[in-house]
Amino acid sequence: ASANQPYRTGFHFQLPKNWINDPNGVMVYKGVYHLFYQYNPNGAVVEGIKIWGHSTSNDLVNWTPHEPAIYPSEPYDTNGCWSGSATILLDDKPAILYTGVDSQNRQVQNLAFPKNLSDPYLVEWIKSDKNPVMQPTIKNRINASSFRDPTTAWLGPDVQWRVIVGSKVDRRGLAILYKSKDFVNWFRSETPLHSANDTGMWECPDFFPVLVVGQNGVDTSLNGPFFKHVLKVSLDETGHDLYTIGSYDNIKDIYTPDKISVEGDLGSRYDYGKYYASKSFFDCVKNQRILTAWINESSSVADDVKKGWSGVHAIPRKFWLAENGKQLVQWPISELQKLRANHISLANKLLEGGSVIKVSVVTAAQADVEVSFEIKDLDNAEVLEPSWTNPRFLCSQKGASVKSSLGPFGLLVLASDDLKENTAVFFRIFKGNNSYVVLMCSDQSSSSLNQDNDKTTYGAFLDVDIRQQKLSLRSLMDHSIVESFGGGGKACITSRVYPTLAINEAAHLYAFNNGTQSLNIAALNAWTMNTANIN
Ligand code: FRU
Repeated sequence: ASANQPYRTGFHFQLPKNWINDPNGVMVYKGVYHLFYQYNPNGAVVEGIKIWGHSTSNDLVNWTPHEPAIYPSEPYDTNGCWSGSATILLDDKPAILYTGVDSQNRQVQNLAFPKNLSDPYLVEWIKSDKNPVMQPTIKNRINASSFRDPTTAWLGPDVQWRVIVGSKVDRRGLAILYKSKDFVNWFRSETPLHSANDTGMWECPDFFPVLVVGQNGVDTSLNGPFFKHVLKVSLDETGHDLYTIGSYDNIKDIYTPDKISVEGDLGSRYDYGKYYASKSFFDCVKNQRILTAWINESSSVADDVKKGWSGVHAIPRKFWLAENGKQLVQWPISELQKLRANHISLANKLLEGGSVIKVSVVTAAQADVEVSFEIKDLDNAEVLEPSWTNPRFLCSQKGASVKSSLGPFGLLVLASDDLKENTAVFFRIFKGNNSYVVLMCSDQSSSSLNQDNDKTTYGAFLDVDIRQQKLSLRSLMDHSIVESFGGGGKACITSRVYPTLAINEAAHLYAFNNGTQSLNIAALNAWTMNTANIN
């Protein structure tokens, strides 16, 4: 970030200019991490022909740019090379399946392989002469404008590869399943892997196993009693990534979620703010499953054109199944901590009702903060009305300035010294039927004096038993993006904000308690984040 580009990030993946969207083909190959991404080389806007940009990394934090890997060159992708995924085949060769928009504007699936496997960066990719390897036909009745984003493939017990492609019939979302013995000739299964009513198009599906116990990740082909499966879909109608946890019968090739149809708007989300078109991969170097995603702008198209770029990627997150098996837990990759500098800390500090404490981190515009709150007396918590089931709505009704007894309390980030500008990331505690309910909010309404931005408030319920546990919050602040992790990563909220006063050295960080009841900051640790080498 500089004086005339205050919204450029210091440690979030971005490009020097133009439009970026989905992460594509993320993988680790011979110890090198590869990130491809949807890129419009002709401007900072969504309209245009997309190509696959390419960067590599040794740590998922610092990135080296390469020439575009896949770009329109054939009738089957002449109108765009859209999203897709990488699979490491049995001979240890990577393969990419991606969506091509063909000369008739039909969406088809294409295959590509590295030209030279001894090039550690796999810079050049060769398209298969069998392309397209999956396409809509009169016979299969697939909708040619809703057929895209193939996943990483997995192997079944019959040693056939399987892959899903996102689709819809009317408003029924579909994960169309294909099978192949050789990765080149693909056959569509009659039944989809899964489908659900009234969701609209399933973009960028992702399907993978998670261990029932522990935080390690596993290869996409594993299945059996030690695993559950996760299906994630990106809903273009709402712009949200929703997931379900369930079981995968790899004989019948059917996925069954544990709960019915949670794909609706109140279903489980990776992130309750801005977070879309995510894609995971198994990092066999560190035995972890990593989640990447596109975070678009909340500014106007005119502002994007003026600043010359649009879109960043989230910090890669390690993620795993929570102990209760009911949700996923996410945490920024540990390598990110290499960027931490200028540590400051507080411990056991009273945060009185109605008070604000300045946290004097150097360069609060580019920082990492972890805080935990201790609430001794829960008796006076506000009663949760039974109709208050929508956390986002509740957070927008009860923003950072609305007092109750236990909350709002949390952090004011990217704040000007007069607090005229700030993004409030906070909690509110309610008394529910027979337990306490924790609400986590990110209130962007005061984030900028510029009125052209989308300042929607975000919110989520957080599954933490606060009679037993402290309430923790981690926020990564990076000029125009705030990624927050509540309860050790049980609820995540990412927001884009564009302060006009609280930029660069004029941005500050505060802890606040706007509730009437005092509480304790058990611990607070904050760091400036060094700038990563990104492209
Ligand atoms: C999701 C998406 C995908 C598509 C790509 C095009 O953001 O719309 O469905 O493949 O972007 O850039």
